[in-house]
Amino acid sequence: MASKSYYDNTSVIDEAIRTLRTNISFSSTDNKLKSLLITSTNPNEGKTSITLMLARSMALNGQKILLIDCDLRNPSVGKQINVTSDIGITNFLVQNTTQSEIVIKDEVSYNLDIILTGPIPPNPSELLGSQKMENFIHKAEEIYDLVIIDSPPAGLLTDAQILSTIVDATVLVIAQGETKREELQVTLQNLNNVEANILGIVFNKVKSKKNKSYGYGYHSKE
Ligand SMILES: Nc1ncnc2c1ncn2[C@@H]1O[C@H](COP(=O)(O)OP(=O)(O)OP(=O)(O)O)[C@@H](O)[C@H]1O
Ligand SMILES: [Mg+2]
Repeated sequence: MASKSYYDNTSVIDEAIRTLRTNISFSSTDNKLKSLLITSTNPNEGKTSITLMLARSMALNGQKILLIDCDLRNPSVGKQINVTSDIGITNFLVQNTTQSEIVIKDEVSYNLDIILTGPIPPNPSELLGSQKMENFIHKAEEIYDLVIIDSPPAGLLTDAQILSTIVDATVLVIAQGETKREELQVTLQNLNNVEANILGIVFNKVKSKKNKSYGYGYHSKE
């Protein structure tokens, strides 16, 4: 669970999430952006926190959002929303469980549907890169305004790279002072190698001079 100061600083967080939301809405005028992957270079940079805040913010703003926890290495959306359930996306991918059986409703926003990971398989990359997964996301894009996917760190594993080829755009979270420039370059190279569409970067855990607490910043790639 996050420290108190992190949640106390809601105006800074809200502002950065609002900016990210606006960038998503205006990112593509011809083809609407329908799916978004959130990743980072290293573990613990704030992917899940930002994924959840963004999803709730957009849902509270009236959009129909689906959040999928695709971090099959370290699932944590359930922990952050205080839901313990063994059912999730892997049940659908492996056991033919239906979509309605794996979706849970968020308590904060009625417009937000959440899918947890389900049981962790021995072959996460294979499952995430399956045709069934791709079909599932494309079908969800037709039902929801935006599908937001939480993922493992892209600097260490290929899962995020694989997912980035299925979604419309990828957002990279960078925790200030935690990720080395060379590590970040490897992540960007990995994502560029699969021609991921990098929408922008969220700078997390940024020490604000004004209020001496942590916050967020958002920069689009332009
Ligand atoms: N802006 C912030 N200020 C302070 N703490 C933060 C901030 N963002 C996230 N945290 C804390 O950092 C930790 C990691 O956050 P989170 O689980 O969202 O990261 P993650 O990138 O999803 O991690 P993992 O790679 O393990 O999935 C959590 O304890 C979270 O509460
Ligand atoms: Mg996480």
